[in-house]
Amino acid sequence: MENKRGLFIVIEGVDGSGKSTQASLLADYLRGLGRRVHHTAEPTESGLGGMVRDGLGGEHPRTTEELAAMFLADRVAHNVSPKSGIKQYLESGTDVVCDRYYYSSLAYQGVDGALQWVADMNLNSPVIEKPDICVFIDLDPEKCLEHIRAGRSHFEIYEENSAIIAETRRRYGIVFEMLKGRDNIVTVDGARTPQEVSADVIAAVSKLLK
Ligand code: TYD
Repeated sequence: MENKRGLFIVIEGVDGSGKSTQASLLADYLRGLGRRVHHTAEPTESGLGGMVRDGLGGEHPRTTEELAAMFLADRVAHNVSPKSGIKQYLESGTDVVCDRYYYSSLAYQGVDGALQWVADMNLNSPVIEKPDICVFIDLDPEKCLEHIRAGRSHFEIYEENSAIIAETRRRYGIVFEMLKGRDNIVTVDGARTPQEVSADVIAAVSKLLK
């Protein structure tokens, strides 16, 4: 029996926006509908993902260009892995809910004139799947910082202060403008209870379920 291709859903947002909670709530909702769901995230848990995390945590500082290439390598592996790759899941009819994807690379590493280069690598790759929808959880940078501070004592390079977070949020805006007409991107107001935000995420995704 042939399987219908699964839906590929990406949840994006700046650090502390609540996107990981939203990805979990969405995955639970889709499972509740009887769908098969693979909930995943980038950077991944693989060796490559670990190297990226060392770079972000300050243990092994990396240039933005190195980080762009490392995230790309992690993303390619995340797509093509024969056992647990995104492509494999989608083709077998499983939905994929991914916490961050190439939108993050464009927003975080597409700085200082590098946006075109980072976009070319990610968007023109024959092995990097295009999501069916990207839901951006939008939240005020001060609130995001409060969430980050409440959760931990050690900060990664993109989480240090609200000015960095505000700049990243601005860059997401530029990226979404650039991808208008190419990618299906929906912005959801994150300044409400997780359940209220989730209702909007579910509404956006439900349009694709019909
Ligand atoms: P995050 O989703 O915040 O992971 P966690 O909650 O487990 O710390 O991602 C970690 C950081 O990685 C975040 O600051 C954004 C950054 N990032 C990039 O800069 N580029 C990328 O392509 C991706 C996937 C993530």
